This record gives sequence, structure tokens and C-alpha cells, in this order.
Amino acid sequence: MTRHFLADDDFTPVEQAEVLALAARMKAAPFAAKPLEGPVTVAMIFDKPTLRTQASFAAGIAELGGHPTLVDGALAGIGKRESVADVARVLGRQAGQIVWRTYAQRAIEEMAAHSGVPVINALTDEFHPCQLLADLLTITEHKGTLAGLKAVFLGDAACNMGNSWALAGASAGMHVVLSGPLGYQPEESMVERARAIAVVTGGSVSIEVDPRAAVADADVVITDTWVSMGKEDESAARLADLAPYQLNAELLAVAKDDAIVMHCLPAYRGKEITAEVLDGPRSVIWDEAENRRHAQKAVMAWLQDRR
Ligand code: NVA
Repeated sequence: MTRHFLADDDFTPVEQAEVLALAARMKAAPFAAKPLEGPVTVAMIFDKPTLRTQASFAAGIAELGGHPTLVDGALAGIGKRESVADVARVLGRQAGQIVWRTYAQRAIEEMAAHSGVPVINALTDEFHPCQLLADLLTITEHKGTLAGLKAVFLGDAACNMGNSWALAGASAGMHVVLSGPLGYQPEESMVERARAIAVVTGGSVSIEVDPRAAVADADVVITDTWVSMGKEDESAARLADLAPYQLNAELLAVAKDDAIVMHCLPAYRGKEITAEVLDGPRSVIWDEAENRRHAQKAVMAWLQDRR
């Protein structure tokens, strides 16, 4: 059966570890594996803004011997001009894999149900699973391990990155703490879904409203924009509600001395994170951005093997 990567827990903990190990090997030898030789076409569709995702997928597909083709989401009018199911059926006849950044999780599930080829979530309102694999690869490089580490996600913990941290961090056996005020916490069902994974891996998932208590003794401190794509109308309220969660030097001081700082970017210096921290010695954000390519190559290669 065709496998897809629509949410972080589409990979079991063992599969996640396999994909991360493959990503590390691909990073060490970027041109060695050509599973998309032919070239196989990979269709990339973006319904929301992109920089890292488009650039890293295009480069990664080329390095795997494949051919990236950009399908303009606005021109295609997916779900408006044609149903998601019909678009999926058409793209599945032209492309070997489909990468989609869109809004609703149920839309990408619909794409996967009808495409006949692997579909990869390049960010939805609900999840950002490719980013999480890049983040886990980056943590492994800097810390040598994942299981047992304390990772704290600060700010809008109800956004795609908060959800993905809960699921992927739990899969990796990490102790994930999501710290945001009421209204910015993941749904209970998401926390339960992540905790069911953590039971198996030895990790944990908790919510902590107080940012200082959350960050205490953290190994990894993560934040993200307070205004995710599509939430621009709520900007003023979000900036006010989330101000106490800014990742600054004072807050970082309560983490472990060797804690690393992560941000999936784009970052807004002076809002969710200070310039001093983002551009400081603890920050691993550029490794994180580079690792998108290596992690996504591993995902594509892994899915290509299991069509
Ligand atoms: N939570 C952010 C992630 C950006 C990569 C957003 O959805 O805009």
C-alpha cells in the first residue's frame, strides 16, 4: 500500500529513527543515492508562502536524481476549480510523488486518498512534519541523542509546530513541554494522541503555562512566530497575549547551560525571540534550515521504496 507522510505519527517511532538515520547518511554523501533517477517528477504545490520548503525540496529532489515541478496552487484552483480528489487523480498520473503546503489537514488526506502516489505534508494548519524531522536531525547532531532530552516549545503551542512537536518529540522518546497561555495550547485530543506514543517510547508530553517553569533545565528551547500563516487578522491580539513567552536571554538563562535554541523561521526579532538569542551562540537555526533538505530527501527516498 502506498505510504504517505501527512502527520508526524505516520511514521512509527522505529520508522522515524530509520528515516533520521537515512537523512544523516544522505547529508554525509549528498549525491550518492538516486532513488528518483529517471528522472521521476515530484509535484510541489504551495497554497501558502514558502522559502525554505520550496528551495529545499527542489534541491533535494534534484540531488535524488528526480525532477521538481511547481504546480501553482492559485492557477490550479484546488478545491475550487477542480475537486481535491480530481487534482489528486491527475497529478498521480504525472508525478511520482506530491508535496503540498495547504490549509486544512483533511484536504491533504483527501489528496492522499486519491493520488495513488506518496503525498508529503509540506505544512498544513495542523502539522509541519518535515520541519520536525529536520529539527530532530539537528538535535542529534548537536546533542548526540534524542531520547530523554527535555524540549520546550514556547508561544503559540496550538499551531502546527506545537502539534508536530508533541507527536514527533514523543516518537523520539523526548520529554516535550508545550508552554503557552490558555487558548494557545494544543487540543486535548492531540496531547492524548502524543501521550499514547510517549508511553511506548519512554518520553512524555506536558503543558506548562508558566514559561520559566517550562524552560527550567531544558536541553532544547524552541519557538515559532506568534502569527502563523492564515492568522494575520488576529495579529494584534496574538502579540499581546503571547508577549510573556518571548524567548530572551533572561528566560534562556533558566535552561541548561548547554541548551540549544531552535526556530523554524521566518523569525520576527523582538517579538517571539530577541535578536540576541536568535543570532547568539546557542542558536542552531541555520543548521535547522539546511537540514530540511537532508530530512526531506530521506522521506522521499523512504516513501519511494514503499510504493
Ligand atoms: N507556524 C508557522 C510555521 C512557519 C514555517 C506557520 O504556520 O506560519
